[in-house]
Amino acid sequence: MIAITARQLREIKTPFYFYDVELLDKTLQLAVREAKRHDFHLHYALKANANPRLLEIIRERGLGADCVSGNEVEAAIKSGFPAGSIVYAGVGKSDEEIRLALQQEISCFNCESFPELEVINDIAGAMGKTARVSLRVNPNVDAHTHHYITTGVEENKFGFPVDDLEQAVNRCRELPNIEWTGLHFHVGSQITDTSVFRSLCERVNEIQRGIAARGLVPSRVNFGGGLGVDYDDPDARPVPDFAAYFQAFADSFERLPGQQVHFEPGRPVVAQCGSLVTRVLYVKEGKNKKFIILDAGMNDLIRPALYQARHRIENISALLDEPLEPYDVVGPVCESSDCFGKAVPLPVTTRRGDFFAIRSCGAYGEVMASRYNLRPIAPSRFSND
Ligand code: LLP
Repeated sequence: MIAITARQLREIKTPFYFYDVELLDKTLQLAVREAKRHDFHLHYALKANANPRLLEIIRERGLGADCVSGNEVEAAIKSGFPAGSIVYAGVGKSDEEIRLALQQEISCFNCESFPELEVINDIAGAMGKTARVSLRVNPNVDAHTHHYITTGVEENKFGFPVDDLEQAVNRCRELPNIEWTGLHFHVGSQITDTSVFRSLCERVNEIQRGIAARGLVPSRVNFGGGLGVDYDDPDARPVPDFAAYFQAFADSFERLPGQQVHFEPGRPVVAQCGSLVTRVLYVKEGKNKKFIILDAGMNDLIRPALYQARHRIENISALLDEPLEPYDVVGPVCESSDCFGKAVPLPVTTRRGDFFAIRSCGAYGEVMASRYNLRPIAPSRFSND
C-alpha cells in the first residue's frame, strides 16, 4: 500500500508522482550503513530521479552525486552536493559541459574515449586546470537484463575496450592537464542476479592485474550502479538487499592497498519510494477483454512501453477483498504501446473515478516524462506535505 492520505487524494489533480519520503530515508540509511561496513563510497545517480526534494534528502544522508550531463552537474551543485563528491560520465560530453564541470572542480570525469581525453585535456589547459579522470572500461560482462539497459558488452557504445586500456592510461599520463585517478565500470541496470556482480569483480581483478604488472595502479575503482529492485512485490521488499550487494564486492573484488571503491546507485535508492497516482477515466468492454483507461499515459511513465517493464498496478479506491478479474490497463495516448499491463487482476467493481497507484516508479519515471500528445508534465507530491 502507498502511504497517501485521503485528503491528499481529494485535493489533487491526477496524474501525479507521489513519493514516500520516509521510505526513501530508510533506504538511504540502510545503503549508507552497508556501504560504510566496507568503506565504500556512494554517488547517487541523478539520472534515476533529479527531483530537488529527493536530492535534498539524499544529499543530507551524505551520498555524493553521479551525473551524466552538465545540467545534472548543475542540479547536484544547486542541491548542495559538494563538488568534490561529483563524478561525471557519458559518451558525449560537450565542450560547454566539460568547461562547466572543470569550473565547478568536480571530483572526476569518467572518460569514455580517446578523442574525449584529448578534448578534456585541451579545455583544462585553456582554463589553467587539471582534470581528474577515471577511465570507463567496457569489461564485456553480460548483465542478463533487458538489452536496452545492458551497457557492458562489446556491442555497446560505452567505455574503452579492455585491449585499449593500457594505451589509454599511458595517454592520460602523457597529457599535461590530466591526472589519471582510476577505473570505472557499469555493466547494466535492474540486475537481480548477484552472480553478475561476482563475474564483474573477477573480470576487474583480471584487468587490474594486467595493468598493475606494467606499474599502472588505479587509486580508485568505481563499479557504477545496477542493483535491481522487486517490481512484482514492492511491499515485500521495499528496500533492496544492499547488504548482499556490497558483500559480493567485498568478497570477490581484490582491493589493492589504499584503493578507494565507489558505487553509483540510482534505481535501488529511489525506485520503491515513488508511485504514479492516476484515476480511472473509463472502463471499456472490448470484444474479448475489458480495458481500464487511466488518465496517466506513456508520456508520464514510459518504462512499460520502452522496456516491456512490469510495474505493480493497484486500485487504491477498492476494498482489499473484492473479487478480481483481468483487465488490460492502458493510458489515453494515441499509441497501442501506451499500455501499463495486460490481463492484470483487478477488482470487478473498478469504475470511473477510482484512484490507481502504479508502483515502483521512483526511478526512471518522472525524469523520463515527456510532453507527447501535448500532455502536461505530471507534478510531484510528497508523503510529508
Ligand atoms: N552509473 C552509470 C554509468 C549508469 O549508466 C547508470 C544507469 C547508473 C550508474 C545507475 O544505475 P542504476 O543503479 O539505476 O541501475 N531508464 C532505464 C535505466 C537506464 C539506466 C542507465 N544507466 C530504466 O528505466 O530501466
